[in-house]
Amino acid sequence: MRKWTLNLTQDDWQDAAEADAVCDAIKAGELVAIPTETVYGLAADATSSAACAKIFTAKGRPQFNPLISHLPSLEACMEHGIFDEDALKLARAFWPGPLTLVVPKRPQSTICDLATAGLDTVALRVPAGPVMRFLAEKCSLPLAAPSANISGKVSTTTADAVTIDLGASLSFVVDAGPCSVGIESTIVALVDGTPRLLRPGGVPRKDLEAVLGRGLIDASTPAKPDTPQAPGMLSSHYAPSAAVRLNALAVKEGEALLAFGPHKLPGADGAVCEINLSPSGDLEEAAARLFAALRSLDTSGAETICVQTIPKEGLGEAINDRIERAAAPRPNTPS
Ligand code: TXA
Ligand code: MG
Repeated sequence: MRKWTLNLTQDDWQDAAEADAVCDAIKAGELVAIPTETVYGLAADATSSAACAKIFTAKGRPQFNPLISHLPSLEACMEHGIFDEDALKLARAFWPGPLTLVVPKRPQSTICDLATAGLDTVALRVPAGPVMRFLAEKCSLPLAAPSANISGKVSTTTADAVTIDLGASLSFVVDAGPCSVGIESTIVALVDGTPRLLRPGGVPRKDLEAVLGRGLIDASTPAKPDTPQAPGMLSSHYAPSAAVRLNALAVKEGEALLAFGPHKLPGADGAVCEINLSPSGDLEEAAARLFAALRSLDTSGAETICVQTIPKEGLGEAINDRIERAAAPRPNTPS
């Protein structure tokens, strides 16, 4: 694995020899880790089923789980998906940005069936993070990229976390520092005239509803047994190894604490380890720090991570969704 460290405040990365090397690797069907504004992506050529198969192998991901294809622009996305009026409104309002649209797949789309898990819909996203857009444009390919983590672990928001999970499978890690949003994209399906929220994420629901001029039907599954019909919404999708206890009112002995806001929980001084997602109670800051915090608390040796209550408004909906999944029973483990 080679590492390419980028300073996004300078533009000389756009001509760097590494950019050519990353594109060559993608075109040769290899896997590369590329940052977006949400999380790091495990990227491959979305038109190649051989390349996409490597993604599933590297992640150990269930095959029924389809991938998001990343493209440089709405125009490029329209070659692969059919956008109704609502889809166009959302794309124009939020792209580039942390929003994925699931739309009917065009018959002439070159995105392979493995990337869409054989569905007749396709998940498309124009990320705000410039590196993924730049590389998709430079390769002239849609880039299939799930979050760059082992399946069932929390997503990665730094190049170091990517390297720990997936280094052995990668040709390249592109390191552009920590992701600014830190939580995955919001996914909205626009397939039958009724916009549905498939996954809360980096664009808050109320912002989407304001642009649509109506409410979004909530299609994300609650934390209950996994079903293939709800791809990617596996209840234990974001599980750390430690148990997770929600809405803690006090810290019990031996627990690690994921805190939020200025209020100090009773027992906090006795926590094995404490990370406060945002001492001032800022939900954007909390989202950006969530996955790194879960990873870090998981390595503290505590058997349980207790989580202070986090309000559900704005980005809090996505943060709570991920934490509830982290707390859900694991399908393949005895507990
Ligand atoms: O922020 C993000 O979305 C990150 C970055 C790398 O872009 N990607 C990401 O990918 O979170 P992943 O694979 O971890 O999650 C993609 C989700 C999965 O839950 C998958 O089931 C869903 O998108 N998805 C993809 N195609 C779909 C489709 N046609 N219909 C319904 N859900 C779909
Ligand atoms: Mg993921």
